[in-house]
Amino acid sequence: MSADRVVKIRDVRTPGETYSIRGWVYRKRIHGKATFIVLRDETGVLQCVHHPNQNPQVKIPENLGIEASVQITGIAKEDKRAPGGIELEITGFKLIGPSHMFPITKDQSIEILLDLRHLWLRSRRLTQIMQVKAEAVRAAREWFHDNEFVETFPPILVGSACEGGATLFSLKYFDRQAYLSQSAQLYLEALIFSLGDVYSITPSFRAEKSRTVRHLTEYWHIEAECPYKGLEEIMQVEEQLFAHICNTVAEKMPEAIRAVGRDPDFLAKIEAPFKRITYEEAVDIVHSYDIDMEFGEDFGARAERALSNHFDKPFFIYRYPEKIKPFYVKRDPDYPGFVLSADLMAPEGYGEMTTGGAREEDLDSIVERIKAEGFNPEDYSWYLDLRRYGSVPHAGFGLGTERLVWWMLKLDHIRDACAFPRVLNRVTP
Ligand code: 4AD
Ligand code: MG
Repeated sequence: MSADRVVKIRDVRTPGETYSIRGWVYRKRIHGKATFIVLRDETGVLQCVHHPNQNPQVKIPENLGIEASVQITGIAKEDKRAPGGIELEITGFKLIGPSHMFPITKDQSIEILLDLRHLWLRSRRLTQIMQVKAEAVRAAREWFHDNEFVETFPPILVGSACEGGATLFSLKYFDRQAYLSQSAQLYLEALIFSLGDVYSITPSFRAEKSRTVRHLTEYWHIEAECPYKGLEEIMQVEEQLFAHICNTVAEKMPEAIRAVGRDPDFLAKIEAPFKRITYEEAVDIVHSYDIDMEFGEDFGARAERALSNHFDKPFFIYRYPEKIKPFYVKRDPDYPGFVLSADLMAPEGYGEMTTGGAREEDLDSIVERIKAEGFNPEDYSWYLDLRRYGSVPHAGFGLGTERLVWWMLKLDHIRDACAFPRVLNRVTP
């Protein structure tokens, strides 16, 4: 291999070969006359060692700082003590970007680390989480593509709410008011008429005023909508997509998953179909844990955690009371007061991953429920047109990407599924 060709750290494998790598100084120590540099790039870390008596032509600056960027050329040597069993004997060294005193050291508070998120992102752990997230979204797109869903690009600046007023971010849009999209759903519903099965992956915004470990104010929403599907068929779409994502990341990134804290075999074994329980059965489970909740209410945080902990695999809760679901959810003709809506729940205490279901087709019922939510049906006139011109039964769902990554990797806080988390008290960096 030519010494000039730069390879990734992962590809430094063969003892005796000369390699050039580019990376950032992860650790540095001087032992006797030798300098040890652990270099990192996006594929891993590698110990590089400089013996000045063997390679006097190489000059390593004494003040070389942590996170300085460098290019190193060297000969791979087997070394049992080096992490990975290979180290690089440095024969060439080039400083690319020096580094000031790196502000992240051991034992810093979480708030300081969040202020330094733009630098903290270089940690192995956050790097691996971001890589798994990218693979999860890639796998989602792959599943949609393989199943003939068309990717669509709905707007983010919108004129009406989808998920109720309480979590709506509003902004001034020239001389009128507009909002940041909470969900692409209403637009996906419009797109099925020309494109059939559709999906989108967009940012969604929720003005969540509470601090929890599972709420962001901005997240990446994977949503799909299908003509001629009902509740059962859309649950099948969800569980297949969900299993495909879990299986794919387990297959493609086992080391990263293990390093972050989850056994990849667990994800490899996630398999459709998932168990389905009704809202009514779910309430009984909550009550069996002596948690107070009224029949007909939504699950509170404690109830949701108990339910989720009750299971060791993903499962669905379906047929919710109408009054806790938005205006667009289809009423269950066989169970008055209940709707054809389902949440896909992760086990182990993580809870809701998706909400989906069949959409109301009856124009008058939608208008009445839009009013009941305190909105003006005129703001939804375009949406109501979808029921006027060739309406068809249809269903869809939304999956929160960060919720999924949070559970897949057993993270403590959903913010770690984001490079730059947006929560109640934080919009920077
Ligand atoms: O349950 P939600 O509000 O449902 C909808 O928005 C539907 N319109 C989706 C659809 O049918 N197309 O949101 C869907 C998912 C949730 O299940 C959750 O995974 C995620 O979006 N989500 C959040 N993730 C992080 N932070 C928040 N504040 C979230 N709110 C919802
Ligand atoms: Mg929901």
